[in-house]
Amino acid sequence: MNIATIVNQKGGVCKTTICRNLGYLLATKYNKKVLLIDLDSSGNLSNFFELRRPSNDDAGSSRVLLDLDSDPKDFVVKTRIDNLYLLPGNESLGKTEKDIKSDDLLPQQNRLKLQLKKINDQFDYCFIDCPPTVTNAILVINALACSDEVLIPCPANMDAIDGVNHIINMVNTIQQYYNDHLTIRGVIFTRISRKNIDRQLLTQKLAIPRFRTYIRESSALAEYSRAANLMFEEYEPDSKGTHDMANLAAEYLGEKFPYPDDLPNELNEFL
Ligand SMILES: Nc1ncnc2c1ncn2[C@@H]1O[C@H](COP(=O)(O)OP(=O)(O)O)[C@@H](O)[C@H]1O
Ligand SMILES: [Mg+2]
Repeated sequence: MNIATIVNQKGGVCKTTICRNLGYLLATKYNKKVLLIDLDSSGNLSNFFELRRPSNDDAGSSRVLLDLDSDPKDFVVKTRIDNLYLLPGNESLGKTEKDIKSDDLLPQQNRLKLQLKKINDQFDYCFIDCPPTVTNAILVINALACSDEVLIPCPANMDAIDGVNHIINMVNTIQQYYNDHLTIRGVIFTRISRKNIDRQLLTQKLAIPRFRTYIRESSALAEYSRAANLMFEEYEPDSKGTHDMANLAAEYLGEKFPYPDDLPNELNEFL
């Protein structure tokens, strides 16, 4: 199983949207068996699939992190999409975080790694949806410690890109102490429009790789599809946001871009 953590300390940068749409596309278009893990106490990802458990019920990623004798397969649930599975999360992750930190007998950073080994051969791909924080964030550290790669959704402005340095520093530390094969797969520029793009960024060399695919601003598609609990493609198959997600999935897998005409021509499109 190839594991990718989707992380950014900012909220509203499309982490959860990318997690579910990428998972969906890999499962349905590329016939991969995919596991999504909800590590955000807001439970947005679990809500979307209508699989969020009540706040006093910690069955899901919380229990997997707390009870190292448990088997994650007992908490993984099928979604309505074939080949797409979810380890749900909810408010109990807040308490889980505190409980992990106050346990000085069992390992704190490697819990998810130890647990996911038990189901490693049951899925092809796993995406971990993280809370919007990287400081004091034992859940994010657990995600990075067990991952092969990191995806960083980020708006294309200088402030947001500066914030990515925190993630790079954290990844360096994780590589050094917990997971030496962790790699930063790349920044994914999100919510891009003529108005909100920092043009300087398009030509500037970044310290880390970037995806060629940009996710353009499509507020109506994003809001209505989310309200209807539908993926972009299910809600509006022929729209720019849907095409961008399809290109992103192909790029992620190293497949041919299904919509090459929708890829930004960096120098022309936004300048
Ligand atoms: N391409 C897009 N264009 C405009 N809005 C988007 C787009 N993708 C997602 N959104 C909206 O942005 C908000 C934050 O998205 P979300 O994926 O929940 O971010 P995060 O998980 O990083 O907090 C949501 O309201 C979502 O519907
Ligand atoms: Mg989110």
